[in-house]
Amino acid sequence: MTHAQSATTARGQFAARQWRTPRAALTTLASLALAISACTGGTGSESGSAPAGSGDGGGDAAGYPEDSITFVVPFSAGGPTDTVTRLIAEPMSAELGVEIVVQNVEGAGGTVAAEQVANAEPDGYTVLMHHIGMSTAPTLYPELPYDPLEDFETIGLVTEVPMTIVGSPNFEPNTMDELLTYVEANLDTVTYANAGIGAASQLCGLLFETATGLDVTEVPYDGTGPALDDLLGDQVDFMCDQTTNTTENILSDAVKAYAVTTPERIEALPDLQTTAEAGLEGMEVTVWHGLYVPGGTPQEIVDALNSALLIALEDENVITRLGELGTSPVEQDRATPDAHTEHLQSQIELWRPIIEDAGVTAG
Ligand code: MLT
Repeated sequence: MTHAQSATTARGQFAARQWRTPRAALTTLASLALAISACTGGTGSESGSAPAGSGDGGGDAAGYPEDSITFVVPFSAGGPTDTVTRLIAEPMSAELGVEIVVQNVEGAGGTVAAEQVANAEPDGYTVLMHHIGMSTAPTLYPELPYDPLEDFETIGLVTEVPMTIVGSPNFEPNTMDELLTYVEANLDTVTYANAGIGAASQLCGLLFETATGLDVTEVPYDGTGPALDDLLGDQVDFMCDQTTNTTENILSDAVKAYAVTTPERIEALPDLQTTAEAGLEGMEVTVWHGLYVPGGTPQEIVDALNSALLIALEDENVITRLGELGTSPVEQDRATPDAHTEHLQSQIELWRPIIEDAGVTAG
């Protein structure tokens, strides 16, 4: 079975279940992760990945790149991670002089794609775009088949994206106060869409539950692209998603918007209150994205990808489009392997106690 096939099957299983609590969802997701792992050829050790960080991987650095490069996206096409990836792929492709093919490998909150790239040849032709989920997965998945810090080389950070809490067009609450009252009164029927354990939308939901004391019914998807489609069709009630997916729908009143998860209001959505203004304590989260290659990829290849990334982040079209979507590229000094590794490490440490205190795990 291909990744796409297993992800499609998995989504069918998700859709068939009406999870009543996040805890009930965990066991199912853990089984799913194992099932998909089996379809993808097992763990890193079984598939013979190069020793992490050896720096002398099998890649031929001289003349790199000579062929098309695959950018693996861990969530559905049309979603926020996919949007950022496709935006930067264009100028990176022009800079590297080869085609960049975007491949969506969905499943288990982004961990299926990360495992695939951890086990790929360290030759620079398979690159992972991942987000904050790279830092939460080690705590959420006790059996995670890769180590984010050991099994990859970082290329650089890409963006930092605010999140927004939004509701379906016909969802009754119009304000955050109304949302809290409504959810509390209708806990058995209200549904919250996310992209599975390890997704930014799942983390944001967890923070919402912690801040409000409400235990909402989660409906997981392979990405917030399809989740937003269902929200727009009133098939799920509310979700927390990145501005790269929601800004245009908020501005056109296609969805109801309750709050943005940044400390300050954002330029693209100046009328939208922050979670702090709405009285939701500790509900601040910004989704960051970064590029990775398998551990052991030669330094020359990491440098070539990083140079192309730095150029892409200064591209006018990238800056303009990200601005329209409520975000911007990171500063150049953060789009480096060292800054990226440092950020990943600090985010693993930041989220571990928060997730542990919430008692959420996929195992
Ligand atoms: C996506 O690209 O679908 C999202 O990043 C999913 C998420 O993390 O919520």
